[in-house]
Amino acid sequence: MDLPKDALQGVAKEIAKNIRPGATLGLGSGSTVAALLQELSPILVGKAKAVRGVPTSTQIELVASMSGFNIVPFRGSVDMVIDGADQVDEHLNLVKGGGGALLREKVVMGSADSIVVVASEDKFTQRLGENGVKIPVEVFPMARESAKVKLSKLGGVPDQRLLPKGYPFYTENGNIILDTKFDPVDNPRDLEVRVRSTPGVAEVGVFTFKPITVYRLKADGTFKVLKSSN
Ligand code: A5P
Repeated sequence: MDLPKDALQGVAKEIAKNIRPGATLGLGSGSTVAALLQELSPILVGKAKAVRGVPTSTQIELVASMSGFNIVPFRGSVDMVIDGADQVDEHLNLVKGGGGALLREKVVMGSADSIVVVASEDKFTQRLGENGVKIPVEVFPMARESAKVKLSKLGGVPDQRLLPKGYPFYTENGNIILDTKFDPVDNPRDLEVRVRSTPGVAEVGVFTFKPITVYRLKADGTFKVLKSSN
């Protein structure tokens, strides 16, 4: 679904209210955060110089610096992270990693004092893994085959991510991605822990951090604010 501009502008205004001058923002990757930063940038004028952004990929670093954000390296924590998602379940657990930035996104989100996610309404489901959405698993290349076996034993069907011309996709950390189909997930936290305990797995794209605030962008130009603390 195309991102509804009116909803995005409304969300940007709401988020900006909670950004204090001098704040360090974690910047998730993807098209939603990219569009949001372009809306946030004019609102933060005046605060802009003081607001710092920690990018989770080169993609968002380029967008953020062109939007006037002051880019800084990750120094262990951020005040707020602003991110997107590939899927959001009814308890506000997330699938992330469609762009391959899941490892850095998880590190930054895990360090954030507050978590803000923005997603269009077509990404919301009851359980993660519905509608054929696969769970990205970032794997050290040498562990490709052994990780596939383990993921299969966990009930998954792993599929190595390839570029359009058939070459392997490598993350910015030099790893591969196994996009893994699971049955709709009843216990995301359990799946996250089990997959991550597979030798060679660097990170899994199931995100269960709480508390979290999720802005649901609706096609009619409005938005809904959803919160979960557990
Ligand atoms: C990047 O690896 C992902 O986690 C993105 O946050 C996610 O894929 C959402 O991307 P879009 O906003 O482009 O849909």
